[in-house]
Amino acid sequence: MISGNYIYLRLMEECDIPLKVEWINDEEIRDLAISDYISESGTRNWFNKLHQSNARKEFMICLKETHQPIGFASLKNIDLVNSKAEFSMLIGSKNHWGKGYAKEAKKLIVSYSFNELGLNKIYSFNWIKNERIIGLNKKLGFKVDGILREDIFFKGSYRDIAIMSILKKDWVI
Ligand SMILES: CC(C)(COP(=O)(O)OP(=O)(O)OC[C@H]1O[C@@H](n2cnc3c(N)ncnc32)[C@H](O)[C@@H]1OP(=O)(O)O)[C@@H](O)C(=O)NCCC(=O)NCCS
Repeated sequence: MISGNYIYLRLMEECDIPLKVEWINDEEIRDLAISDYISESGTRNWFNKLHQSNARKEFMICLKETHQPIGFASLKNIDLVNSKAEFSMLIGSKNHWGKGYAKEAKKLIVSYSFNELGLNKIYSFNWIKNERIIGLNKKLGFKVDGILREDIFFKGSYRDIAIMSILKKDWVI
C-alpha cells in the first residue's frame, strides 16, 4: 500500500471491477479520457490477464478517512530496458474532483516509480483540451514533449494528443 496524507493507493482487486466499469462509462469521463465503452465481462477478462505480465500495475485511489475508492491510476507499458512507464488516471467519483486527490495520487505513484521501481521517465498521453490533467501535469513538473496531431479519432473528429513526461533528475517533489 502506498500511503499519502489524504489518500492511499492499493492494488486493484476483482471486487473493484464494477466501479471501474461505471466510472469509465460515464460520458464526461469517457470524453476526457477518450475511452471506448467497456463491459463488466470484458473488464473481468482483462483483469484476469493482468498478472500474466509485469508490465502493468493498477492502483485504486482510496480516501484515508473512509477507505472509499474514488478513482484509479495505472502504470502501463513498464519498460525495464529503457526505464520508463506510461501513467494514466481518473477520479471516478466526480464530487471528489478539484480537491487535490488526483495530484496527491500522481505524486505518490511517480515517486514510487522513481524510488522503488527504479524508473527514469514517466509519461502520459492526454487530449490537449483536457485542462485539468494538463494543468495537473504541469504543476508536478511534467513537460510537453510534443503534440501528436490528429492522433485519435473520437466522437466524429480527430483529436490532438499531448505527450508529457517527467525525468527522475527533474523530480523535486
Ligand atoms: C483529470 C483528473 C484526474 C483531475 O482530478 P482533480 O480532482 O480535478 O485534480 P486535483 O484536484 O488533484 O487537481 C490538481 C491540480 O490540477 C490542476 N487543475 C485542476 N483543475 C484544473 C483546471 N480546470 N484547469 C487547469 N488546471 C487544473 C491544478 O494545477 C491543480 O492544482 P492546484 O489545486 O494546486 O491548483 C479528473 O478530472 C478526472 O478523473 N478526469 C476524467 C478522466 C481524465 O481526464 N483522466 C486523465 C486522462 S487519462
